[in-house]
This record gives sequence, structure tokens and C-alpha cells, in this order.
Amino acid sequence: MTSTAILIINGTLVDAHGQSKKQLLLIDGKIAKVSETITDTPAETKIIDAQGLYVMPGGIDVHTHFNIDVGISRSIDDFYTGTRSAACGGTTMIIDHMGFGPKGCSLGHQLAVYKEYAQDKAVIDYSFHGVIQHVDEQVLADMQTMVEKEGISSFKLYLTYGYKLDDDSTLKAMARLNELNALTTVHPENDAAIAQRRAQLIKAGKIAPKYHAVSRPLECEAEAIARTINLASLSGNAPLYIVHLSNGLGLDYIRLARKNQQAVWAETCPQYLLLDDSLYENEDAVKYVMSPPLRPKAELEKLWLGLEDGSIDTVATDHCSFTYHDQKHKGVDDFTACPNGMPGVETRMPLLFSEGVSKGRISPEKFVEVTSFKPAKLFGLYPQKGCLLEGSDADIVLFDPELKVNISHDRLHDNTDYTPYESHAVTGWPVMTISRGEVVANHGEFLGKAGAGHFVHRKPFDKNNI
Ligand code: URP
Ligand code: ZN
Ligand code: ZN
Repeated sequence: MTSTAILIINGTLVDAHGQSKKQLLLIDGKIAKVSETITDTPAETKIIDAQGLYVMPGGIDVHTHFNIDVGISRSIDDFYTGTRSAACGGTTMIIDHMGFGPKGCSLGHQLAVYKEYAQDKAVIDYSFHGVIQHVDEQVLADMQTMVEKEGISSFKLYLTYGYKLDDDSTLKAMARLNELNALTTVHPENDAAIAQRRAQLIKAGKIAPKYHAVSRPLECEAEAIARTINLASLSGNAPLYIVHLSNGLGLDYIRLARKNQQAVWAETCPQYLLLDDSLYENEDAVKYVMSPPLRPKAELEKLWLGLEDGSIDTVATDHCSFTYHDQKHKGVDDFTACPNGMPGVETRMPLLFSEGVSKGRISPEKFVEVTSFKPAKLFGLYPQKGCLLEGSDADIVLFDPELKVNISHDRLHDNTDYTPYESHAVTGWPVMTISRGEVVANHGEFLGKAGAGHFVHRKPFDKNNI
């Protein structure tokens, strides 16, 4: 289907490398021209006046869990409501996790199931991370098909939860993924330490939601980060991406590895930059039950410094939403009964813009780098996405840097019943989102269509090109 041509004028273009006062012509879902003045436009070109606005590459959220079955619950956002919410928040591509599937299921089965979940629902482009639930000869062989034929060039290893991998499996998976030019992503937490602490807490009757955080303190995460870094080194410097980093000690291990030339990248999420563990003292503490949990306030500043100095590469969301009144509430008297995770796909861009750019902590270019450019580079999407180059997908967000908004769940487009950021005041808001040349959100109004998003075949990981 061909879309109407769009000419964006008067805006300030921002990519990861700089700003310019240029016009942008979008034709048939691609950026057709970027120039100071564009006159040779097709008949019936729609003009968008971006006076006072930043024109940026659409956001890429590389960490979502739509429609995930976590055993005790299924997350409430599917690929329609999840991507609708993403689009309204300035995000034009998501990479979801194919998991968890039935025990023992093959990678091919995972992909077939997830394609079915997404294809008639996603309103923006999407891809998936493979999830390694177990390691055997078949899985190691299937990885090749996934990378080379299916365009799945990143895989997640969980070191805790039901599908945790031991060191033997982790080493085998990392070595094979390295051989195939795929990126290993890891949820790092020390499962044994968490299990011991949980058992002690349960025995002592300490099962109120706040004990969720006590059961998995930051040392559990930092230990697993250090271990994983060393296992990646032992696997021939396998490229490694640490997800949802929440603390400074883990960040220090990452910094050390990078100083030693190891191929390690790190992601954090808005919740770890903005919220702290004092929220577990509140009556609505279950809203914030997720893993890793929120950390003491001092950790937030360390993560901001990591973003500023480039030790943290991306900001994603880990959007894994459950309703507060029904699903999360199951844990109100027992944290072990609370499904882990929080919503956030729609608020990622405005929160980071407001707390980062508007408060002067990061530049607009850095904002683009961590929300779009680096995600595209790391996950085999560049230069199709993550930039404003001629020939790239016409995935654009128009940001009003002055617009003040008090976040409330009423104005969001997900399928849950709360936002962890209720009443949070932000300066800067994504006022228009364009996905493959179509306006999918305009001033909070969703204009997209279920099924319009494409599955994106990603390129193999290339560490020389990050
Ligand atoms: O609590 C969380 N984060 N749930 C989603 C799964 C994960 O660990 O990323
Ligand atoms: Zn995780
Ligand atoms: Zn996650």
C-alpha cells in the first residue's frame, strides 16, 4: 500500500550526531529526501509544520513482553494494545521476547507462535529476541536458521526464573551465538541467592510486597553481571548485552569489562532512573513488584552518570503489564503471588526527555542515541531505522520540548489500569508519531491500524559497526 507523501517543514532535525534546520520528504514509507529546501514534491503532498518541534528518529524499544504468560498470569497488553501505546509515546519499533513457551519447545516453534501473536495486531514494526529456555544439540543447530534465515540476531538468557540457565548451558549458548554473529542478552540475577532469601523470608512470615525487594538485593544482580561478563570472555569475547541494569555496582563491573576491551553493552529503564525503593512502603507497593526491583535512591544517580558518560547504551522499558486491581493485587498479602513487571512503553520517551533533556542532563542528540540510534545499531536495524537518512524507513517522532504534561493513566493507550508515573510532571511530549510514512498518533489521538506493523528481518550482529 502506498501512503500519501509528507513534507515536514520548519522543524529542528535531531539525530544522534547533531541538529539541523532541514526539511524532510517522506514517500512510500521511506525518507525520500533531507534538504534545506525541498520543492520537487509529488502532487497532494501533505505538509506538516514542525515549527518549534524536534523531528527525531522514532523510538525503538528493544525490551517488551507483550502477551507473555508468566505462569501465574498473562500480561494484559497484547501486540495491539502494546504497540498502540508505544506509538502514542513516540516509539515506532519494538523488539519483544519470545517467551516463555512450553517447556522443551524449539526456537522455530517460539517464532511461529509469536508471529501469530503479532501479525494482525501490531500497529508499528516489530521483531523478537529468541529466548533460550534450554540448551541441546537441536537448539544450538536451530540458532543458525534463526540468525541467517529468520532475521533473529539476538537471544535472551535468563539466569533466574523457571527457565534459568546454568553456567554450562550459558557457556554453550554464548559460544554458539558468538560463532553465528548474534548478540547474547542476559537477565542477570543470582538465582540461588534469591531462592535462599525467599525461603528465609517466607519462613519468617515476611511476605508483604516490600519483601520482594529484600529477596533480591542489588548484590544478586551485580554478582550475576560480573559472572556473565566472565563467561562471555571465556566464550571468545562473545558480545554481551545486559538488560534492565538497576544499580551502580553492576555498572562498575560493566565499566571495568569495557576498559578491558570486552564487547559489553548495557540497557537501563526509566523506572530505575526515576523511581526508588521507598515506594515499597506504600499501600500500592504491588504496582512496583518487578525484577530487578526498585533500588535505594543513591543508585539512581549512578545510573544517570552511566548514561551521561556512555557506559549505559540504551534506555528500554521492560514493559510487562498487569492490571493493578486484579492481577497485581493477587500479591497484596504475598509478594510471591504477584506477577512481576510494570507498564512503561508509552512513557519511556517523554520521561527520559523530560528528566534528561529538559533538566539539562543529556543533550537531544544523546536522547536519540539511547532511544533509537544505539538500539538500531546493536540489534541489526541500522540504517533502516535509528536515523534520518535518505532511504531509511519513515519512522519519525515530533517532540514538543516545551509542552508540559501531568502524566495520568487516562491519557495513555495501554490495556492496564495504572501508570507507575501517575501525576508525574513532564516537560516535553511526543506530539506526533509517523510509522513508515503514516501518521499513527497525533496529539494523543491514535490513528494507526492493527496489523499495519511489519515483522522486520534483522541483520546479524556486527561489533565493528556499533
Ligand atoms: O519483572 C519483570 N521485569 N518482568 C518481566 C520479565 C523480565 O525479567 O524481564
Ligand atoms: Zn528480565
Ligand atoms: Zn524483561
